Amino acid sequence: MGLQLKFNIILAACFVVGLAVSSVLFYQVSKSEAIEQLQSQIDVMRSQALSVRKYTSDEIQPLLADQSAVQFLPQSIPSFSAQTVFRNFRASFPDFFYKEAALNPTNPADLAKDWEVDIIEMLRKNPNVERDIRIRDTPAGAFYTVTYPLVIRNKDCLICHSTPEAAPASMVALYGNKNGFGWKLGETIGAQIFSVPMSIASNKIWRSFGLFLGITSFIFLVLIVLLDILLYRMVIQPVRAMASTAEQVSLGEADVAEYEYKSPDEIGSLSKSFNRMRRSLDSALKMLETA
Ligand code: HEC
Repeated sequence: MGLQLKFNIILAACFVVGLAVSSVLFYQVSKSEAIEQLQSQIDVMRSQALSVRKYTSDEIQPLLADQSAVQFLPQSIPSFSAQTVFRNFRASFPDFFYKEAALNPTNPADLAKDWEVDIIEMLRKNPNVERDIRIRDTPAGAFYTVTYPLVIRNKDCLICHSTPEAAPASMVALYGNKNGFGWKLGETIGAQIFSVPMSIASNKIWRSFGLFLGITSFIFLVLIVLLDILLYRMVIQPVRAMASTAEQVSLGEADVAEYEYKSPDEIGSLSKSFNRMRRSLDSALKMLETA
């Protein structure tokens, strides 16, 4: 096996091992970065939802209080406005999901379903858990889902959510007296659930991973071509020339031209020593012939 082939095999092996190790590291880092980005998108969505809730209870509810006594206006309810605003928001961002799910909701559309129930039950059992993060596999693909518990902290909430008798008659007339009652102060009655498709993150990961592979392979190719040219010109070519001169001399061809590789490096000094050795050999032979 030639020197160049050996050299290339060793370099390629180093490249493959190096690329495998750095790919694993690169994948881990870009995955956690992409997930951080999903989480920050959810943080923004959540704070928007909370702002809409606060705006509704601080600004709208007092304004419509008198009117609501006559005809109940769901528009003055924070949960209604937050979810309605989000539905409008989804017109531009259809991949994002938000739901205020409850185990016993006033509006049946807010009823928690299968996996939502499991998360809410878990949050009810563990009041110290601030949020639940999971990646859900669904027929529509994987989703990054973050759930925040909805806890009744304000006793004013109980006006409408404790008993039908305490609630405004207009509200009971609209929503009935069965659902959304019996909530207690400090109780986790449901959760704010946000979902974002993982494909947003994985597309980003694969794009940057492809770029990383492309750039690294290109640099390696340029490097190996450059090293090959240098190896050929600085080592292989002079060594081959010296070997063929030596071969010819050993076969008795005394008039073979001297090959000199002019360079201050090891190969240069080898070619000089080789020529000197040949001259010594020549004169030794001549001395033998004349003796
Ligand atoms: C004036 C009555 C009223 C008050 C006060 C009120 N709510 Fe509600 N709440 C409602 C109505 C009505 C709905 C259903 C709105 C809809 O149709 O989406 C609702 C819905 C909700 C929902 C969504 C789940 C469901 O039941 O459909 C949550 C969560 C909620 N309220 C929490 C609260 C909290 C927390 C407070 C106190 C800060 C509060 N509510 C105060 C009337 C009220």
